[in-house]
Amino acid sequence: MLETIALGPTDIRVPPLGVGTWQWGERGYWGYGLSYGQRDIEEAFVVSVNAGLTLFDTAEIYGGGQSERLLGDLIRKSQASVVVASKYMPFPWRYGPTAFRMALDDSLQRLGLDHIDLYQIHWPIPVVSIPDLMDAMADAVADGKIRAVGVSNYSAEQMRQAYEALQRRNIPLATNQVNYSLLKRTPEVNGVLDTCRELNVTLIAYSPLAQGLLTGRYTPLNPPMGPRFLSYLLMNKRAWQAVLDLLQHIGKEHDRTPAQVALNWLIAQGNVVPIPGAKNARHATSNAGAVGWSLTPAQRDALSDATLLWRC
Ligand SMILES: NC(=O)c1ccc[n+]([C@@H]2O[C@H](COP(=O)([O-])OP(=O)(O)OC[C@H]3O[C@@H](n4cnc5c(N)ncnc54)[C@H](OP(=O)(O)O)[C@@H]3O)[C@@H](O)[C@H]2O)c1
Repeated sequence: MLETIALGPTDIRVPPLGVGTWQWGERGYWGYGLSYGQRDIEEAFVVSVNAGLTLFDTAEIYGGGQSERLLGDLIRKSQASVVVASKYMPFPWRYGPTAFRMALDDSLQRLGLDHIDLYQIHWPIPVVSIPDLMDAMADAVADGKIRAVGVSNYSAEQMRQAYEALQRRNIPLATNQVNYSLLKRTPEVNGVLDTCRELNVTLIAYSPLAQGLLTGRYTPLNPPMGPRFLSYLLMNKRAWQAVLDLLQHIGKEHDRTPAQVALNWLIAQGNVVPIPGAKNARHATSNAGAVGWSLTPAQRDALSDATLLWRC
């Protein structure tokens, strides 16, 4: 049994690592239906649940709703007890209370659930009032359609606004989901990680493997193709290779892969739950091996020092 942690001050408990499902049904960015398909997703789900990784992160926009549909089907088929996190995108043309309720009902229908455990605002769209969004969230909690409120891609200041608006309704802000990995350490310097700790908000780390760049599958001589080629182009190749070498070296001392070491480093930051995206059983098995052991303090420091370039 994996140890569990609470999402913020809520009574929702999750394993130290979740499962990202943007890949499930998403053709354009990830190539669903080409290099992997429904059977692979099914295996990723089963392996994850069997390993105790029962937090699944999806969104209404992933695969145009397909990610929520696939996840809902798998939950129904397996009868597994899981924690579902989904997201609402407050596009400027559909952000009022009615549009919010309709989007939530659509997500519930695709998931086949009567409530969502953690409902997150996907992005802070500038023209959309944060207090108004939090009021809509609080109404959904009161209606029993969501259990906890989260945000995503919110700055420290935006988090405070959300936190205060929810406080007026006696509801805690449970989570802020942001891009955080060894190759993206911005939350450590922009106040988000500190504010999460101060307000008791759990930081959910998305793209924790830097979309594959921390796994060792891609190297300066072997770039990822498709949309991820841009991140590769922008990468400082020499510094990246040094990080890959260090991950490999440290991994050997624990009999773990670079991806497992990268995820373990994130978990060690405390109050951080990474959600690596899994396309298949191999990914799920590997990601499950990132928990249940610890890097030494010296190894964590070595990784932190080797990635200072990305602490900006
Ligand atoms: N809130 C937001 O705005 C936001 C934004 C992005 C993502 N997310 C969420 O965060 C989740 C994770 O982020 P992400 O998918 O962008 O990036 P990620 O988890 O850093 O990378 C996922 C990719 O890495 C590769 N991979 C995964 N596990 C692996 C393993 N064990 N060994 C080798 N390669 C492995 C796979 O790609 P290949 O096999 O193709 O290399 C996989 O598609 C998403 O699924 C989504 O739920 C949220």
